[in-house]
Amino acid sequence: MFFLIFVLVLSSHVVSSSSPITSMEAETLLKWKASFHNTTQTLLSSLWVGSNHCNWVGITCDSTGSVTNITLREYGMSLRGTLDNLNFFYFPNLIWLQLRNNSLYGHIPSHIGNLSKLIFLDLSFNNFSGCIPSEICLLKSLQLISLESNEISGPIPRDIASLSSVSNIGFHGNYLSGPIPSSIGRLHNLSSLDLGWNRLNGSIPKQVGMLRSLYLLDISGNSLINRFYSNIYRKLDLERLFLAYNSLTGHIPQTYCNFTYFQLSNNHLTGPLPENLCHGGQLIRLGVVNNSLTGLIPSSLRDCKSLIRARLEGNQFTGNISDAFGIYPNLVYIGLSHNNFFGQLSPKWGQCPHLTNLLISNNNISGKIPFELANATQLGELDLSSNHLIGEIPKELGALKMMSRLLLSGNRFSGKIPSEIGLLFNLEQLNLASNNLSGPIPDQLGNCLKLFHLNLSMNTLGGGIPSSISDAIALQSLDLSQNSLIGGIPQEFGKLKSLDILNLSHNRLNGSIPKAFNDLHGLRIVNISYNQLEGPIPDLKAFHEASFDALRNNKALCGNATGLRPCVLPSRDNHSHGRGIKVILLTILPIFGSLVLVFILAASFNTCCKKTPTRKSETREESHGDIFTVLGFDGRKLHDNIIEATEDFSSNYQCSGGYGTVYKAALPTGQVVAVKKLHQYEDNMLINNLKAFESEIVALLEIRHRNIVQMYGFCSHPKHSFLVYELVEKGSLRMVLSNIEQAKELDWTKRLNVVKGLANALSYMHHGHSQPIVHRDISSNNVLLASDFEARVSDFGTARVLKPDSSNWTSLAGTYGYIAPELAYTMRVDEKCDVYSFGVVTIEVFMGKHPGDLLSYLSSSTPVPNDQHVLLKDVIDHRLSPPRSRAEKDLVTAIKVAFACLNGNPLLRPTMQQVTQALSRRSLPLTSPFSTIKLGEVLGHVVSNG
Ligand SMILES: *[C@@H]1O[C@H](CO)[C@@H](O)[C@H](O)[C@H]1NC(C)=O
Ligand SMILES: *[C@@H]1O[C@H](CO)[C@@H](O)[C@H](O)[C@H]1NC(C)=O
Ligand SMILES: *[C@@H]1O[C@H](CO)[C@@H](O)[C@H](O)[C@H]1NC(C)=O
Ligand SMILES: *[C@@H]1O[C@H](CO)[C@@H](O)[C@H](O)[C@H]1NC(C)=O
Ligand SMILES: *[C@@H]1O[C@H](CO)[C@@H](O)[C@H](O)[C@H]1NC(C)=O
Repeated sequence: MFFLIFVLVLSSHVVSSSSPITSMEAETLLKWKASFHNTTQTLLSSLWVGSNHCNWVGITCDSTGSVTNITLREYGMSLRGTLDNLNFFYFPNLIWLQLRNNSLYGHIPSHIGNLSKLIFLDLSFNNFSGCIPSEICLLKSLQLISLESNEISGPIPRDIASLSSVSNIGFHGNYLSGPIPSSIGRLHNLSSLDLGWNRLNGSIPKQVGMLRSLYLLDISGNSLINRFYSNIYRKLDLERLFLAYNSLTGHIPQTYCNFTYFQLSNNHLTGPLPENLCHGGQLIRLGVVNNSLTGLIPSSLRDCKSLIRARLEGNQFTGNISDAFGIYPNLVYIGLSHNNFFGQLSPKWGQCPHLTNLLISNNNISGKIPFELANATQLGELDLSSNHLIGEIPKELGALKMMSRLLLSGNRFSGKIPSEIGLLFNLEQLNLASNNLSGPIPDQLGNCLKLFHLNLSMNTLGGGIPSSISDAIALQSLDLSQNSLIGGIPQEFGKLKSLDILNLSHNRLNGSIPKAFNDLHGLRIVNISYNQLEGPIPDLKAFHEASFDALRNNKALCGNATGLRPCVLPSRDNHSHGRGIKVILLTILPIFGSLVLVFILAASFNTCCKKTPTRKSETREESHGDIFTVLGFDGRKLHDNIIEATEDFSSNYQCSGGYGTVYKAALPTGQVVAVKKLHQYEDNMLINNLKAFESEIVALLEIRHRNIVQMYGFCSHPKHSFLVYELVEKGSLRMVLSNIEQAKELDWTKRLNVVKGLANALSYMHHGHSQPIVHRDISSNNVLLASDFEARVSDFGTARVLKPDSSNWTSLAGTYGYIAPELAYTMRVDEKCDVYSFGVVTIEVFMGKHPGDLLSYLSSSTPVPNDQHVLLKDVIDHRLSPPRSRAEKDLVTAIKVAFACLNGNPLLRPTMQQVTQALSRRSLPLTSPFSTIKLGEVLGHVVSNG
C-alpha cells in the first residue's frame, strides 16, 4: 500500500517535470521495480532515490534525459524477477543493457527487438529460460550479445546473421540445440563465438572457418566478458574457437588458421585436424579430447612454439610420435593417450622446461625412456602405460622432484626398479605393474611419504618385502601380487593404518600373518592367495569376509573365513591368552594415558591461568600455553610464529567463519597453515570439556588420511586457544559450488571423486579405529577441496567438543539442513547421523546446491505424485553439461547410494563401509537412457519407510 502510494507520487512528480519519453522511461522502470520480489524492491528502493531517474544507481541518461545505459550487475544474485514489465518499447535510446549475474528468470521478452540502438546486451549468469526470441535479430547495432549460463533452450535463431555489427556472441552454458546456422559465416565482424556447453548438433559450418576476424572464446565465460569490457570498440586480433561439449559431428573445416584457443573436445568429430592449425604461430590451447579424429598430427603443430596445453586424448591419431612433435618452450600439458601413435619417445620432451604432464598411455610407442626426460624438471605426471616400451627405467627420473604420478604399467621394462625412485618425495601413485622387472623392491620406496597407490604386480620381483615400505604411511592400495617374493610379511605393516586394499597373492611368502595386522581396521579388500602362509588369519572383517579365492592355496591358514579350518585348540588357547593381555592393555593404557595428559594439562593450565595478560609486550612471555605438537613443529615456537604470522589474529589474515574463525598463517619455515581460533564461548566450553577434548585431539593428531585435513597441533592459552591445520587450497565445497567458474571446473568426474573421498574419510573414521569417531557436523562447509579438487574433511571429532551442551546439544551440534531427522526426537548421535549428512552433501554435490525441498519430500512418506515425473537430468547441476558414458552410470549409482543414506530410519541406512564399497564397484549399465531416468526411479525403494 505504502509502496503503491510511493510509486504514484514519484511518477506523477516525474510526469510533471519531464518530457514524455523520459517520463515513460521513469514510469516503466518503477513498474519493473514493482514487479520484483520484495527483497529486490527493498534493494532498489535504496538505490533508486530521488525523483530524477537519471540519477539512480545503474541508470545513465543522455543530455536530453533519455536512458542510454541500464547496468545492474554489481549487486550479484540479488535481483529476483523477470523482464516482463520492463517494456523496452519505451527505451528508444538505450545502447547498453547489462543485467549480468542476478537471479532473473522467465523468457527474454520479444519486445527486446525495439532496442534499435542497443550495442551491448549482457544477460549472462541468470536463470532465463525459453527460446532466444527471433526479434533479437532486429538489433542491428548490437556488437556484443552474451546470454551465457542461463537455461535457454531451442535453436540459435536462423536470422542471426542480421546482427550485422556483432563481434561477440556468447551462448556458453545453456541448452541450445540444433545446428550452428551457417549464416554465421556472414558476420564479418565476428571475433568471438562461444557456443560451448550446449546441446548443439550437426556439423561445424564451413562458413565459420571463413570468418577472418574470428577470435572466439574461452571455457571460463568470464574472461571473455571481462576482456570485452575493455576492448569493446577495439578490433580484436586474437582468434579463439570454443565449441567443446556439444554433439557436433563431421569434419573440422580446414579453413581455420590463426587461432589461439581451439577447443572442440567431447563432440563426435571425425577426420583429421586442420593442416594449418598453428599456421599463424599463435596457438596456445588445443583441446580435441574424446572425438573420433584420425590421421597425422598437422605439421604446423610440430613447430608451434606458442603451445601451452594440448589435449588430444581419446582419438585415433596416428603417425610417428618422434617426428610429430617438436620442442615447446612453453608447453605445460600434453595428453596423447588413447591414440594410435607409434615410434619412440623423443629426448626432446626433456627440453620443455615447463612441462608438468606428459601423457602418452595406450598407444604403440616402443624403444626406451630417454634419460634426458629428467631435464623436464617440472614434470609431475608421466603416464606411459600400455605401450611397448623396453629397457630399464632410467635412474635419472629420480631427479624429477615434482613427480606425483609415475605410471609405467603394461610395457616390457626390464632390470631393477631404480632405488632413485625413493627420491621422489612427492610421489603419490606409482604403477609399474605388468612389466618384466626383476630384482628386489627397493627399500627407498618407504621414503615416499605421500605414496598412496603402489602397484608392482605382475613382474618377476624377488627377495623379501622390505619392512621399510611400511614407512610410506599414506599407502591406501598396495599390490605386490604375481611376483616371486619370498620370506614373511613384515610385522611393520601394522603401521599402514590407511591401507584399504592389499594384494600379496601369487608370491612365495611364508610364515604367519603378523599380529600387527589386527590394527588395520580400514582394510577392506585383501588377497593373500597362492603363497605359503600359515597360522591364524587376522581378526579383521576384511579377512573374515574374504572369499575363498582370496585366501586359497596357502600352506595352513586357519580361522573364521570361508573355506578355512577353524584354528586348532592350542592356537585358540594362545589366542585367548593374547586377548587377555590385550584387554588389560586396552583398559590400562587409556587410563594411564589420560591421567598423564590430564596431569600435564592441569598443571600447565594452572600456570597459564595465573597470569592475566595486560600489555601487548608481555604476549611473548605469556605465550606458553598447552601445546601439542606433531610433524616436527616445536609447539612453543609454533604458537609464537602463529601469533606473529597473523599479527595477533588481525582480521587481515582471516579467511572464513564457521564456528571459530580461520586464519591463514605463513610460518617462517615457509609452510602455510590454517589456524582456527576458538571463540571465547567455545573456549569456556573447551575448558569444561578439556578431558573429552584432549583425548580426541591426541587421536586426531595421529590420523593421516588423504581425505582428512591433517591437524598439526592444538594450543590452549588464556588469551586464545586455537587449532592448527593443514591449509586446504580451494576452500570449502560450499564455496566452490557457489562460484560459477569453479563449479564448472568441478566436472562430473571430479564431483564423483569428491563424494568418494568424503566416503573414504568417513568410512575410515567410523571403521578404521577401535572406537568409531563420529564427525557430527558433515556439511558442505566442512568438506574442503585441495588444489586437485580432492576432498578433505575438516573438523573431524571437534564438532562434538566445539558445539556441546550437556542438556540440549542436539540443537547446537550439526548444521541445519544436514542433521538426521531422528535427532529431532532422540539424543542418539552415532555414525548413522554422519551417514545421513553424507547423503545430503552428496546430493548437494550433484545438484550444485543444497537439496532443500527435495529432502522434505524424501522424509514425507507419501510421495507427491508430480514429483514422480521429475527427471533426474533436470535436478542435477545445470551449469555442467549432462554427464556422459562412465560418469553417467557412476552418477546414477552415487545418487542411489545417497538416497539410501537419507533413509528416515537410521537402521536402514547403509554403513559408510558399505557406501565406499558400492561406490568403488564398477557401475551397472543403465537400463534406460540417462535423460529419461526419473527421480522416483532412483529413490523408489527408499521413500517407503519413513
Ligand atoms: C511482499 O510485500 C507485500 C506488500 O508489502 C506483502 O503483502 C507480501 O506478503 C510480501 N511477500 C513476502 C514473500 O514477504
Ligand atoms: C554503462 O554503465 C556501466 C556501469 O556504469 C559502464 O561500465 C559502461 O561503460 C557504461 N556504458 C557506456 C556505453 O557508457
Ligand atoms: C595471425 O595473427 C597475427 C596477430 O594478429 C598476425 O600477426 C599474423 O600475421 C596472422 N597470421 C596469419 C597467417 O594470418
Ligand atoms: C640437462 O640439463 C643439464 C643442466 O641444465 C645440462 O647440463 C644437460 O646437458 C642437459 N641434458 C640434456 C640431455 O639436455
Ligand atoms: C565368524 O565370522 C562371522 C562374520 O564375521 C561372524 O558372524 C561369526 O560370528 C564368526 N564366528 C565365530 C565362531 O567367531
